[in-house]
Amino acid sequence: MRQFYALFLLLVISHTGWSQSIAVATAHPIGTQVARQVLEAGGNAYDAAVAAHFALAVVLPRAGNIGGGGFALIHTFGGEARALDFRETAPQAATRETFMVSGENIPPSSLRSIQASGVPGSVAGMWELYTAYRSGRFTWAELLQPAILLADTGFAMTPFLADLLLHTPHIAEQEGSPFYRQVPWQAGDRLTQHVLAQTLTDIAAMGPEGFYQGLHAARLVDWSQGWFTPEDIGLYRAVWRAPLSMVYRGYNLYTMPPPSSGGVALIQLLKGSDRPANRFGKRWKGEAIHDFTELAHRVYQDRTYYLGDPDYMEVVPGALMDDGYLANRFADIEQDRHVPIAWNQSHTELESNETTHFSILDSAGNAIAITTTLNGLFGSGLWVDGYFMNNEMDDFATQPGVPNQFGLIGYEVNSVAPGKRMLSSMTPTILVDGSGNKVVLGTPGGSTIITNVFQVVLHHVRYQKTLEEAVHIKKVHAQGLPEKLFYEVGALTPRWQKKLKALGHPLEAWKQIGRFQAVSSFEAVADVTRSGDSQGYFYSDGVKSKRK
Ligand code: DON
Repeated sequence: MRQFYALFLLLVISHTGWSQSIAVATAHPIGTQVARQVLEAGGNAYDAAVAAHFALAVVLPRAGNIGGGGFALIHTFGGEARALDFRETAPQAATRETFMVSGENIPPSSLRSIQASGVPGSVAGMWELYTAYRSGRFTWAELLQPAILLADTGFAMTPFLADLLLHTPHIAEQEGSPFYRQVPWQAGDRLTQHVLAQTLTDIAAMGPEGFYQGLHAARLVDWSQGWFTPEDIGLYRAVWRAPLSMVYRGYNLYTMPPPSSGGVALIQLLKGSDRPANRFGKRWKGEAIHDFTELAHRVYQDRTYYLGDPDYMEVVPGALMDDGYLANRFADIEQDRHVPIAWNQSHTELESNETTHFSILDSAGNAIAITTTLNGLFGSGLWVDGYFMNNEMDDFATQPGVPNQFGLIGYEVNSVAPGKRMLSSMTPTILVDGSGNKVVLGTPGGSTIITNVFQVVLHHVRYQKTLEEAVHIKKVHAQGLPEKLFYEVGALTPRWQKKLKALGHPLEAWKQIGRFQAVSSFEAVADVTRSGDSQGYFYSDGVKSKRK
């Protein structure tokens, strides 16, 4: 019998290519700690993700949420890859015209109003994840327990959160909310959220019915003054989708399909960067950044023209990722000058700043990448029943051709319609090599998410940098419109800047791009070099590392 177990263990280890290890990276030390405790108590990555998601809804109020939505990408120990879509939906009252200026009519803001919010998807998403992939070691209520305690008994504010509240008066001055204070918050002050604790307690006791039906749903309906009906809320469903995938330099890469644009765009960029006509070579340099920018402009144009809620798309993702299509699409890129691309609202059809990401990998090799959001910082800023509501409606093309808060434009495929999901850029992604080793990735950053994930994959896989180096490298970004090459301070040497300007790229410096959270079978890399409270934890056969 003993021999059998030894053989079984050997099989498991050789199958997965690794031994006892866990890796977590989240945007808050308490989120990381909660996930770690669940894993150390024998829970799997999916149990840990549910507990961390609810804990982040308490300790990371700017982005962690129950009033928002998101996406999860999973790759199990057994090799199953799935994508979970818990994106918000537009309520029945929403129409194509809701946010359009017409005549004297002043429409509601798609960023700061009741109508800025879609029906939240996070609670339904976490329930789906729990029911489909739980280890069985924890009940749903047990996984919510850390969040309830953190809300009820409070937690110490980090310097980052205290400072943020100082600079967001519309949050700190909202009477009735726990964030209201007449004197400024200080680091170390205790923040308790009793109303949130009660809402979470009811979700813990009743499952999603505790949020989408009964008392809490009724409160949301009342608060919304007719924007949400009980049916809008009661009928919300999270959806499992087939991930998009490709083989990239020895890895199977799995990423998010529509309603995210992230997966299609990431695969277009990776395939584009492997074209012989490009100069990505063996290291990141001025020529590669020129080629990247020209690719990105075209990729974001496709995003604009073709992507939206999959129920409304006329072009399937496969057509946009097709090698022949991409060869044509990128054929006019010139190596020695930047040529602006033409934008055409009535294009012909193709023939046939706040979100949070966390990544978890358990000892058995179950992986999960979750990007979840309220969209803006603290969402719409409106606090209801213990939590902030999202302002995800701004991710629709609220007015055709008019840029949203990320400078992104859109047309019909992403126009507002009842029940529809708004197009996203969130790109949770997992790579698996031939030995079963995994890399689990993602970041916030609105439109920059896609190019950020691309650059981390490029640096880690193509340029053979460690995951830590790939995450911390200073990033660049381009998205077609505005017609610019954005760069994080420090990303471009003076020589590269000169060269790129000479090629015709208008440059613009940004302080920070994203806040990446990545783990692999060998590392946990939280984005500690950029502002925020990120923390990673990695343990493997006695080797611990917290900082990375
Ligand atoms: O879904 C999207 O693409 C946006 N709502 C994400 C917003 C975001 O990442 C803001 N964070 N910095």
